[in-house]
Amino acid sequence: MKTIEDAYKTLKKEVPSFPETLLILGSGWNKILDETKIEKRISYEKLFGIKTSVPGHTGELIIGKTNNKRVAYMSGRFHMYEGYSGFEATMPIRLFAKFGIKNLVLTAACGALNEKYKVGDFVILSDVITLFLALDNPLKGAQFVDVSEVFNPSMREKAHKICVESHIPFHEGTYVYYHGPNYETPADKMALRFLGADVVGMSTVPETLVARSLNINVLGLSFVTNLAFVKHDHKEVVAEANKASEKMKILLTEIIK
Ligand code: HPA
Repeated sequence: MKTIEDAYKTLKKEVPSFPETLLILGSGWNKILDETKIEKRISYEKLFGIKTSVPGHTGELIIGKTNNKRVAYMSGRFHMYEGYSGFEATMPIRLFAKFGIKNLVLTAACGALNEKYKVGDFVILSDVITLFLALDNPLKGAQFVDVSEVFNPSMREKAHKICVESHIPFHEGTYVYYHGPNYETPADKMALRFLGADVVGMSTVPETLVARSLNINVLGLSFVTNLAFVKHDHKEVVAEANKASEKMKILLTEIIK
């Protein structure tokens, strides 16, 4: 992986002025790019010196106008299960912070632990469980970041309103980070549910912590691709996410407005 200084130089040459809002697109969330007038595409290989290894993630930074707003997209992200440290996996957030981003929308697939949730439901994240980042917290040093309210209340309210108005099925709930790359065992899932999580996934939390440490407003959106207690595989996760791509597009387009 390139250093943040090298990535900064590459990006500065390509994009002298960076948008204020960045959206990280997880599995299936890419459809919004169909509605985007693309100004610039930069592969992760060029920008970070590495490709994403996850099937279904294209691995590029895209800048363009959606709904007449100039925004940036990361199509795909780096996960710690790919072998990156917490610090490396969140390098893009630190890089884009240097370019002045103010708002971050994190999207991801998740498995539902809450028995009331169904496949196809959206989740506006109200909180996260960070406990499992203890062994490799992306934050280093004596920075005692206030995480009493990680997700931005007005962004959450806006997402809530859009879901109601657009008839998008949704919940507000707590996301727990699971390191992966294996899915959880039934006993893991029982334990995570017992801790108070509604959904489980392998991203979002490292990025949220780093963004909050840099005073960036964060909105977390997850899509339930499977019931965590029912046997599932990655192909099904991607297939379920793709089925909902129209709704994902509506939600993100309205949020950007
Ligand atoms: N567990 C962890 N991550 C996931 C899941 C899951 O069940 N579904 C989608 N991402």
